[in-house]
Amino acid sequence: MDGNGRWAKARGLPRNLGHRKGVDAVREVVKACPDLGIEYLTLYAFSTENWKRPASEVSGLMDLLRIFIRSELEQLRRNGVRVRVIGNRSRLPADIVALVDEAEAKTLGNSRLTLIIALSYGSQDELVTAARRLAEAALRGEIKPEQIDAGMIERNLLTAGIPDPDLLIRTSGEQRLSNFMLWQAAYSELVFTDTLWPDFGRAELAEAIAEYGRRERRYGASSA
Ligand code: FPP
Repeated sequence: MDGNGRWAKARGLPRNLGHRKGVDAVREVVKACPDLGIEYLTLYAFSTENWKRPASEVSGLMDLLRIFIRSELEQLRRNGVRVRVIGNRSRLPADIVALVDEAEAKTLGNSRLTLIIALSYGSQDELVTAARRLAEAALRGEIKPEQIDAGMIERNLLTAGIPDPDLLIRTSGEQRLSNFMLWQAAYSELVFTDTLWPDFGRAELAEAIAEYGRRERRYGASSA
């Protein structure tokens, strides 16, 4: 969800107002997903690297998350949305962890759309944690190193049980993965759009899906 800062700057507004407008885009995109046949949506809301931003911007983003979960949870639950949060919870404020736990618990039975919020998320951290867990299991003698395969790694990622993304969209003209799902995106189709996140909505999502539909997915095989 890139480009909130530039959206605000172009209007002479503080960055946090760009993030606030970004939350409106989140609402619109979440609503559009079931209509467009999307069952899993992951939003990269805050990366492990985003902790390096000025404290005022970080606390503004945490405020927006608080407000989003508090104000939207009931409607998400009623609309059949399951909320899951992936990331390093140890760095999050305690009340946000409590809100996230509540959102996950209250929507556990839903399946119309799974909304995954990547919060304090970094793919390299996630892979390091998985490697450590497997190394510890090997040291305890529970597994042999030669038994480690792709499936075992996947089951130790934060996304265990969530399908790999078919389509990865990055807004605002940047063409990088920025530590997002480096393992899971191995065969994802990538769509980069110049649209800034606050201007991204139902029509832009539908266009990205149309672009996805024009791609040929080969997973390393030949088209023949
Ligand atoms: C990147 O834009 C955006 C973020 C770091 C924050 C995204 C968060 C939200 C939209 C709000 C909270 C999310 C939810 C799920 C309610 P940037 O600041 O890097 O923009 P710039 O590159 O133009 O400076």
